[in-house]
Order: sequence, then structure tokens, then C-alpha cells
Amino acid sequence: MSQHDDKRRRLLGRLGRQLAYTTPVLALIAGGVTFHGTVGEDVTLPGLSGFSATSLLVANAHAEAHAEGGAEAQGEAEAEAEGEAEAEGEAEGEAEGEAEGEAEAGATDAVKRPEGYEPVYSESGNNAPEWLARGEALYYDTSLSTNGLSCATCHGSDGQDMGYSATFEEAFPHRVAMAENQFGLSEVHADEMVQVCMVAPMQASPLDWGGEALPSLAAYMVEVQRRVAGQSHDL
Ligand code: HEC
Repeated sequence: MSQHDDKRRRLLGRLGRQLAYTTPVLALIAGGVTFHGTVGEDVTLPGLSGFSATSLLVANAHAEAHAEGGAEAQGEAEAEAEGEAEAEGEAEGEAEGEAEGEAEAGATDAVKRPEGYEPVYSESGNNAPEWLARGEALYYDTSLSTNGLSCATCHGSDGQDMGYSATFEEAFPHRVAMAENQFGLSEVHADEMVQVCMVAPMQASPLDWGGEALPSLAAYMVEVQRRVAGQSHDL
């Protein structure tokens, strides 16, 4: 049985390490960001690439099943099966780690204005009404994300203006913690910030730099920024 106890300990140790990842999730929720998602739905949280509520639950269930199986296991066959399952778990862990490393390397390029790019919206306001209308529609559009979220899920509707940090009161470009920590950008323009939220919390590809969606959303966010800062705006 000592062999089993040992396995069980190692397994629970690994589960413990997985549970440690839940701390930033709780901090984020405590920080005022609300997530609409039910358990079982694959809602992935910002700042935790490759990690989701479901994967934690699944990992948890596996670990428990292993631990229980370990206590009951008698035959060699079962012990072997357990060994294989553990090896699989380790391999998965490694693959996740590698994928994360790669994501970080390409992350900055995905959200930073490309070379030679000229923005077609203004960061000092006075953007065309049809651009603001299109931007507002996109702001509520869950089809922009791969996880069922829209910008409004986190940032609120009808002028609620939630989920922003104090940096949002400064005119663009300015420093944003998420852009700096996850994408290595020391400051962002409005369109770059849209791309940051597209890639991280929305778990989607960045919008086309030459398309209409990006400057429309950026123009709309410029007006939201002005509203949050208590300045005149066109919303
Ligand atoms: C899952 C939640 C979530 C979703 C969905 C989301 N965001 Fe954000 N967004 C955040 C968080 C968290 C911050 C604060 C980042 C910080 O200050 O470090 C933020 C900050 C911002 C900021 C302000 C940053 C600043 O201080 O200047 C803008 C603009 C923004 N988001 C736009 C959008 C747009 C546009 C969308 C939809 C395409 C979107 N967000 C979707 C979580 C989200």
C-alpha cells in the first residue's frame, strides 16, 4: 500500500498546484469584472491562457478518481492503468507550458500597430456618427469572441462603464497594466487596446487592421474614454 500512498500524495500535490492557478481568477472577480458563464461551459478567463473553469473541474475530477481508485486498487492491471494516466497528465502539462511560451512570443505582434499603419479614426474625438454607431453595435456583438462574451459583458451597457482601471481616465495613448503585462506594450492606442481585449479576454483573433470594425470600435472606445474622464463626448 505504501506505493499507493506515494502515488496518491504525488497526485494530490499536482492537484494542489493546479488549484493555485485559481487565485488570480478570484482576484480578478474581486476586482469588479463580472463573468457570465455557467459551470461546464468553456469560459476562459483573461490572463490565464490555456486555463478554463472546465479544465480545472475536469482535472479535479480526474485527480479524485485516481486517488479513490488508488485506495481500492488491488491488481497489477489497475496500478498500470493509473501509471499511464499519470504519465498522460504530465505530458499534457508539458504541452500546455510549451503552448503558453509560444503564445507570449507572438502576442505583441498581434496587438501592436503594424509598420506603416495609419489610423483612420481620431483619438481626440469628432469621429463620424456612422463609425460610432457601427462601433457601438460591435461592442454588444458576442460573435466577435470565441467564448460567448461581448465587450459589454465585462464593460457594461448603457454607460455603465465597468471593468476599467484608473488609467482609462487618461487620453490615448496611455499605459494599461494588461497590455504591459501580457503583451509587453508600455502604452497603447485605442485600437491596440481593442486588439488586446480581442485576443486576451475575448479569446479571438485580432481584428483586421485594414477593415472597418477595428477603427469603428476604437472610435467608440475613444468616446467612452471621454465619458469616463468626464469630458464632452458624442455618445
Ligand atoms: C472578460 C472581460 C473583458 C472583455 C470581454 C473585454 N474586456 Fe476590455 N478590459 C478588461 C479588463 C480586465 C480591462 C482592464 C485592463 C487593465 O487596466 O489592465 C479592460 C480594459 C479595456 C479598455 C481600457 C484600457 C485603458 O485603461 O485604457 C478598453 C478600451 C477595453 N477594455 C476595450 C474592450 C473592447 C473594445 C472589448 C470587446 C472587443 C473588450 N474590452 C472586452 C476585460 C475585458
